[in-house]
Amino acid sequence: MVTHDVIVIGAGLAGMRAAIEAARNGVDVAVISKVHPMRSHSVAAQGGINAVLAQNDSYEAHAFDTIKGSDYLGDQDAIEVMCKEAPKDIFELDGMGCLFSRDENGYIAQRPFGGAGFPRTCYAADRTGHAILNTMYEQLVKYDVAVYEEWYVLSLAVEDGISRGIIAMDIHTGRLHRLRSKAVIVATGGYGRVYENSTNAVINTGDGMGLALNCGVPLMDMEFVQFHPTTLKSTGILVSEGARGEGGYLLNSGGERFMKRYAPKVLELASRDVVSRAEQQEIESGRGVDGCIFLDMRHLGESLINERLPQIRQLAIDFEGIDPARELVPVKPGAHYSMGGIKTDIWGATNIKGIYAAGECACVSVHGANRLGGNSLLDAIVFGRRAGRAASLYARETLLSDFPESVLKDAAREIAVIMNRTGGERAGRIRERLASAMNMYVGVFRDEKRLESALNEIAKLKEQYNNIYLEDKGDIFNTELIAVLELGHLLTVAGCIVVSAINRNESRGAHYRLDFPVRDDKNWLRHTLCHKYGDAVRLSYKDVVITRYEPAERRY
Ligand code: FUM
Repeated sequence: MVTHDVIVIGAGLAGMRAAIEAARNGVDVAVISKVHPMRSHSVAAQGGINAVLAQNDSYEAHAFDTIKGSDYLGDQDAIEVMCKEAPKDIFELDGMGCLFSRDENGYIAQRPFGGAGFPRTCYAADRTGHAILNTMYEQLVKYDVAVYEEWYVLSLAVEDGISRGIIAMDIHTGRLHRLRSKAVIVATGGYGRVYENSTNAVINTGDGMGLALNCGVPLMDMEFVQFHPTTLKSTGILVSEGARGEGGYLLNSGGERFMKRYAPKVLELASRDVVSRAEQQEIESGRGVDGCIFLDMRHLGESLINERLPQIRQLAIDFEGIDPARELVPVKPGAHYSMGGIKTDIWGATNIKGIYAAGECACVSVHGANRLGGNSLLDAIVFGRRAGRAASLYARETLLSDFPESVLKDAAREIAVIMNRTGGERAGRIRERLASAMNMYVGVFRDEKRLESALNEIAKLKEQYNNIYLEDKGDIFNTELIAVLELGHLLTVAGCIVVSAINRNESRGAHYRLDFPVRDDKNWLRHTLCHKYGDAVRLSYKDVVITRYEPAERRY
């Protein structure tokens, strides 16, 4: 059996940052990922990472913007930690060689982003995730961290409330392995593929959230799904908020800059929930074109676009046949980010000893009901580092426990049942139906009727999933089997989103209920916790942590 002190599941920004910190702290750490680290979805992050670098900005202002953006659902102690520690993390990335764009004086350049009262988003043109992920990977190699790439984790092994390691499949051979460790850090990213129209990579299937829930760790605030205001019409590919930060604006079919009616002070740079809702409202009121509104960047000029937004120009040309330097870009809201996730404290610890989580799959909670653009890379770096530190300290003072025998047998049996079935339902069809139901019923606007419809559809699809059938019976690189296992997590996560949403009878941040259109602090200034209860989900609630920022009405 393979043994490490700390195993990190996921090799995106949070996972690699956690592994680097653990390695620096002198423990034996390994990263396991279903894809090569440089194919992790963090590579697709475009617009930037927030930090207070200017003399006339302050971490209190960053914290305030984040708390207001979260519609007062973010835990203020965690937000203060993130905003206070951000500058040091950015300078550390810079020191590691991350290629941030520069201003005319050679300092790290910063651009305005939505919901921020100060231009504090550091960027590397519109390929910020790519630049930071490269830097992280170089560090991973430098620290000689073991990487199990193209391995798929099947379960977290927990006995007597203590983490013992994981069971994983080497996708190259189909063989199952026990990997024993003192601590496990889950850093598997989001679940955007639960929706049809999403900015997320196809690998974003909520695996880590499903694994954690299955072994008794609650998921928090799953009803809060971020819809990014600008995704390309036919593919859902992200068009960075940087486009609006640099001065691009939104038009409806009448050529009206409609955001002046929704956010008169800051227009297109209101928080994402506000802008996405405004767009959807325009589209549903008949002022869209073919399900979209337009992003106008023409006035920015070719040279600025080429310097600061080269990737989105190329993406629009390649995937829509539209050149943003010359034409209007049709865009619409698309599922982008999960505010909810595995419940952790500010050191990434969960309720199970030895299990930690960081990045998008975790909920610390620094984003509350709506995340500000540029705060997700920051969350990944700050809380990845913190989880790496906490897990390595825990590993240093803990003896290795026995690995429970039954876990491998259970995983092998589950896979054998699927592989041996000779007929039944196909994964692709279920996945399509799920994504379409989520798009139709659990989108920017929600109400009880739509959410009930989603719940019914998910229940039917779960039944079908229990009779799922594979054509590929081989061991080697069986991607059909991986797709089936991912689908299991997608269904679990979708169930948590909908059950949490149907019970929150108010509108807050990205969760907008047409039947409860007002924010209700008296009853709902609290987090939703989802617990697994047999095959069902049970909810409980927890108060939001308020330090010094009193909840107030949000206006932009
Ligand atoms: O629009 C963007 O570039 C996305 C940034 C983010 O989600 O933080």
